[in-house]
Amino acid sequence: MASNIFRTKPLAQILSDASDSEHALKRVLGPVNLITLGIGAIIGTGIFVLTGAAAAQNAGPAVVLSFVLAGIASAFAGLCYAEFASMIPIAGSAYTYGYATLGEFFAWVIGWDLILEYAFGAATVAVGWSGYVNSFLQDRGIVIPPLLTASPGTKLVLFHGRWEPLASITPMLARQGLTPEQIASSVAAMPQATAIFNLISFLAICAVSVILVIGIKESAGFNTAIVIVKVGVLLVFIGLAARYLLANPQVATANWHPFIPPNTGEYGKYGVSGIATGAAVIFFAYIGFDAVSTAAQEARNPRRDMPIGILGSLAICTVLYILVSGLLTGLLPYSALNVPDPVARGVDATGVRWGSAMVKLGAVMGLSSTMLVMLLGQSRIFFSMSRDGLLPEWASKVHKRFRTPYVSTILVGILVATFAALVPIHVLGHLVSIGTLLAFVIVCAGIIVLRKKNPDAPRPFRTPWVPAVPLGGIVVSLYMMYSLSLDTWMRLIIWLVIGMVIYFGYSRRHSRLGLGNSAPAKGD
Ligand code: ALA
Repeated sequence: MASNIFRTKPLAQILSDASDSEHALKRVLGPVNLITLGIGAIIGTGIFVLTGAAAAQNAGPAVVLSFVLAGIASAFAGLCYAEFASMIPIAGSAYTYGYATLGEFFAWVIGWDLILEYAFGAATVAVGWSGYVNSFLQDRGIVIPPLLTASPGTKLVLFHGRWEPLASITPMLARQGLTPEQIASSVAAMPQATAIFNLISFLAICAVSVILVIGIKESAGFNTAIVIVKVGVLLVFIGLAARYLLANPQVATANWHPFIPPNTGEYGKYGVSGIATGAAVIFFAYIGFDAVSTAAQEARNPRRDMPIGILGSLAICTVLYILVSGLLTGLLPYSALNVPDPVARGVDATGVRWGSAMVKLGAVMGLSSTMLVMLLGQSRIFFSMSRDGLLPEWASKVHKRFRTPYVSTILVGILVATFAALVPIHVLGHLVSIGTLLAFVIVCAGIIVLRKKNPDAPRPFRTPWVPAVPLGGIVVSLYMMYSLSLDTWMRLIIWLVIGMVIYFGYSRRHSRLGLGNSAPAKGD
C-alpha cells in the first residue's frame, strides 16, 4: 500500500521506546565529551589527505574558498541537526528525525544513506590513515610489501628508496621540467609494483571495532586524548607555516598566484566550477558533527548539550581548516599536493626537521579517533533501525556486560574493513560526500516540515531564520552534489536502488510501526 510507507512515528512513541531499559545505553557523556566527540569525528582524512587532492586537481589555492563553501552548507545543516537533536535526543540521528517527520519510507532512505556516510566514511578515513602510516614507517626504514599498502590496481614505484604512488610521481617530474617522453623513460627505469590489498587500513578498522565492542566510556576517554593530539598538531602546523611564510612572503606570493587557476575547459577542473567540485570533495572534511547526534542516548543532558556539541565542534574545525588549507597552498605549489601525506610535505617545506614526523604521528593517532566515531555512529544507526523492525533483530542485540550493540558493531567492522582494503580513496570519499549531502538535504527539509506539522512541540534549540537557513542548506548541498561526477551519481543511485529492494522486500513488512507494535519484542 502506498499510504503506509509514509507512516510517521509519533514523537512520544520515539521517546518512550528509547527509555526501554533492556536496550538502554549508558548515559555518561557531558558537553565537553560531546564537543570532543564531534571534533574526533570531524578532523581526519578530509583535512589531512583530501585537501591536497582537491587543491591539485580541482581548485588550486582557491581550495580555501571550497572550505568556506562547504563550511556554509555544514553550518546550515548543523543548525537543523541541532534543532532535531535537542527535540529528539535518540541514537539514530537523521534517520530518527526522518521517521518523526517525513515518514517511514524517507526514514529508511536516510538510514540507508547514512550507511554511506558512516560506514564508507570510516573506510575512507582508514585508507587515508594507511597513507600516513606507510609514510611514517618508510621514514624509519620499515618497508611493508607494497602489494599490501594500497587498493587493488594502484601502481607504485620505488623512488629515492621509497614506495610512492605513480600518480604522485609523474606531476613531480613534470614540475622539474621533464618532457612526457623523459618522464615515461625515467618511470620505466624504476622498480614497480601493483597493489592487491590494503592490509594497513583493513587492520585499522578491525582494531577500532574491538575497542567499540568493549564500550562507550572507554571509547570516549580514548577519543578525548586523541582529539587533543590532532588539534595540537594542526595548531603547530599553523604556527610553523605562518612563521615561515611571514619570513618568506615571496614563496606565498608565488604559490598563491593565480589564486583561482583558469578553468581547463572541463567542469570542475579549476576556475569557479573547480571551487564547487573542490568543495564537494573536501566536504568530506566536515562530515562528523552529526555523529554527535548519534550519541544522544549516551548524553547526560541531551536537550542542552546536543546543540553545544554539534555547533561547537563545527565552529572550531571550520576555523582550523581555513587556516590550514590557506597556509598549505602557500607553502607548496598546488600541483605538488596530490600525495598521500600533503600536510607533512607542507611542513617539510618550512625546513623544520621534526615537523614532518610530528604531523605524521599526529595524523596516525588523530585519524584513529575519526574511524572510531564513524563506526560508533554506524552501529548506533543500525541499532535504531533494528529496534524499529526495519532491520533484523540481531542488529540491536546489546551485550550483557559491555552494554554495547556488539553484533552490529562486529558485522559492520568486517564489511568496512573489506571496503577499506579494496576500494580507492577518491571513490570512497566522493561517494561519502554525495550520500551525506543527500542526508543534509532531507534533514533541512525535515525542519521545515516539522515546523508546519508540529509547531508546538517543545524545541529546546530552535534553528534561526526558518525557512531561510534550511533552504540555504538545501541549495548549497544540491549545488555541491551537482558538482560531483556522473560515476559518483551512478554509485549513489545503485546504492539507493539496493536500499529500495531491501525496504520493500523486508523492512516494510517487519516494521514495528506497521505491525502496530511500538515496543521491541521481549527477549531482544
Ligand atoms: N570529516 C572526517 C574526515 O575528514 C570524516 O576524515
